[in-house]
Amino acid sequence: MTGTREALVFPDGFVWGAATAAYQVEGAAREDGRGPSIWDAFSHTPGKVAGGDTGDVACDHYHRYADDVRLMSELGLRAYRFSVSWPRVQPAGGGAVNAKGLDFYDRLVDELLKADISPYVTLYHWDLPLALERRGGWAERDTAHRFAEYAAAVHDRLGDRVATWTTLNEPWLIAFLGYAWGVHAPGRTDPAAAFRAAHHLLLGHGLATAVLRAAGARQVSLTFNLSPVEGPPEVADLIDGLMNRQFLEPALRGRYPADVLAVAARHGGLGHIHDGDLALINQPIDLIGINYYNPSVVSPKPGEPANPAFPGSEGVFFEPPSGPTTAMGWPIVPEGLTSLLLRLSRDYPETGLLVTENGAAFDDVVEDGAVHDRDRLAYLDAHLRAAHAAIQAGADLRGYLVWSLLDNFEWHDGYRRRFGIVHVDFATQRRLPKDSALWYRDVIRRNGLAR
Ligand code: FCB
Repeated sequence: MTGTREALVFPDGFVWGAATAAYQVEGAAREDGRGPSIWDAFSHTPGKVAGGDTGDVACDHYHRYADDVRLMSELGLRAYRFSVSWPRVQPAGGGAVNAKGLDFYDRLVDELLKADISPYVTLYHWDLPLALERRGGWAERDTAHRFAEYAAAVHDRLGDRVATWTTLNEPWLIAFLGYAWGVHAPGRTDPAAAFRAAHHLLLGHGLATAVLRAAGARQVSLTFNLSPVEGPPEVADLIDGLMNRQFLEPALRGRYPADVLAVAARHGGLGHIHDGDLALINQPIDLIGINYYNPSVVSPKPGEPANPAFPGSEGVFFEPPSGPTTAMGWPIVPEGLTSLLLRLSRDYPETGLLVTENGAAFDDVVEDGAVHDRDRLAYLDAHLRAAHAAIQAGADLRGYLVWSLLDNFEWHDGYRRRFGIVHVDFATQRRLPKDSALWYRDVIRRNGLAR
């Protein structure tokens, strides 16, 4: 960063918004015919989530969505990114569609449109129907086909009013935290299954994209968790390959990087990659969705065992953060966002960019009816300046969605990590915009940052 804090203006039409995900905010876990998901099973397994927390109630967004939309409107949001819960729509993971489950999203979309807020729909933000996991989950090829069928059902109901669709949220995390490391649902620790899951997620993305296009979807995207990897190339390239290129290259270029294939071949082989799959995966998309939190720094260290999230990373040491961190322990490095956006615009110049998540958890305190979350405000300000720098340097960045609108169920950290710009008192469900939310409202109003 330059250290200067001049006023900055974003391009006309820049999309300002906030994001959530179904299991993290909705609650109503057993209502209106919703079936169980892998996250219900995982969070109800003792020892998996901090404090034994579950998403059973979460922010009760399922019932409070109208109030929440009013709040978004007061903050001036122009877009709301939410995800659809697959087990609400197909409680058994395939076949019969539960109309009541879709009714909720129908109401939510109408409420948003009334408030002049564009709905950005993510089809899969991690809550796989449990019935599908029992048949092998994403490690099974059939799940990709079931996903496309589900995408069709959701588009059928909402496609007349929703313009922007995201197929998957963060395929790397789904595959490698869920199937290799096991700290996320479904909690498996089988690296071979993780590489299969990665491929089937990509295949599901491609099949669903084709279905959405055929049905007339205006904008289709895929959201990646991308992390610039710093360190000597002999170690940094491998981690970059596993986390970033393993997904970017098949989706946007129809090919797997050779270094990734070599690692996958050593973990269960490549028999799950069928002829023609890469062509199915490589559907043109309109937007690359970017979830940016922090870069990774690695160095060579002989004898270091593989990081469980990165099969094949023997001898790679992940450096602990050297500067300031958030309550997650994640380093605060806004410049990483600039370099990431520039890399994507260099490598995939034909595709627009959208920050679908960026934000920070801090230990907020409510004082006299306010939350003075100076740290979060500074984090967001610095990252918006970093995004602006990338735009100045030519990146085609179309918008920025804060993670998150509300404090919510932060996966295996439960409710102890607060990412919201709006505070949620989980005992009363009272919403309280933090200082960062009020600041963000002004950013949106002036389409930029004040001095
Ligand atoms: C991302 C997830 C999102 C949230 C943030 C903090 O990886 O997509 O649901 O948990 O991290």
